[in-house]
Amino acid sequence: MDRIPPGPPETDRPRRNRDADWDAWPVDAYLTENYRSLHPYDIGVIRHHAGVYRRFAPGSLARTLELGAGPNLYPLMLAGAAARRVDALEPSAASVRYLRGQLAHGVDDSWQRFYRLCRSHDPALPASCAEALRRVRVVRGTADDLPPGTYDLASMNFVAESVTEDFEEFTAVCDVFVRAVVPGGRLLAAFMERMPSYRIGTGPVWPACPVDEAALRSVFAPRTTGLRILRLAKDRTLPEYGDTGVLLLTAERPRTPGPGHVPGPS
Ligand SMILES: C[S@@+](CC[C@H](N)C(=O)[O-])C[C@H]1O[C@@H](n2cnc3c(N)ncnc32)[C@H](O)[C@@H]1O
Repeated sequence: MDRIPPGPPETDRPRRNRDADWDAWPVDAYLTENYRSLHPYDIGVIRHHAGVYRRFAPGSLARTLELGAGPNLYPLMLAGAAARRVDALEPSAASVRYLRGQLAHGVDDSWQRFYRLCRSHDPALPASCAEALRRVRVVRGTADDLPPGTYDLASMNFVAESVTEDFEEFTAVCDVFVRAVVPGGRLLAAFMERMPSYRIGTGPVWPACPVDEAALRSVFAPRTTGLRILRLAKDRTLPEYGDTGVLLLTAERPRTPGPGHVPGPS
């Protein structure tokens, strides 16, 4: 009988999204490393995203999405003037617990500085952070649960490239992100540039897929119009995640399928 040749060692296979235990996401350590104080990345992302939200009249977006919200509150704050309802979609039990606690009992003091900065860029935001967050609804789920054509605007921060090592799966997450908005709907995203799989503190390694501007263009150009990508220089105040900067993306879902149209799953 022929011997079955051994498969590649476990570690050679790209780790996919389902291979990580997202319920065990280390919320406290992640907040401590990234969001207990304002870092240059936050300042750049907030300025960029606020510039997009500012173009919408207060209350003019019926429903917006924050995909893979995690425990990060500032993208949710930024939607607080333009959107009448914000769905924070997140699979991790730990992050959902944190988000629901913050919304129910008031946010940690460390978020107030973030809110002041958001409001300085978008004066239409309400005076209080609590009021801005009142339109947020936390929904437990993954990108796979997204119904197409539902949102006026979708936002995604440090998700598609930070949840899988597989470029095809990265592309699939970006694809459902684009399809989640109505035709003509706005897309807003931030990506770690060229970040390999990473650790938070001394915890386990989380799967990531290093992407650069060319990779983002290859995924988003055939699926969107008005694609614009800007770059933030590497933030050396953060732990060393192996990234080379942050890429900021805006685009729209086309109103009619164009020549480079990527057909959806049948
Ligand atoms: C690096 S964190 C980013 C969290 C947050 N957006 C931020 O700005 O800090 C990646 C997030 O994606 C979530 N996630 C993992 N798999 C996902 C999936 N299949 N669909 C949506 N979100 C996912 C994780 O639970 C985690 O909250």
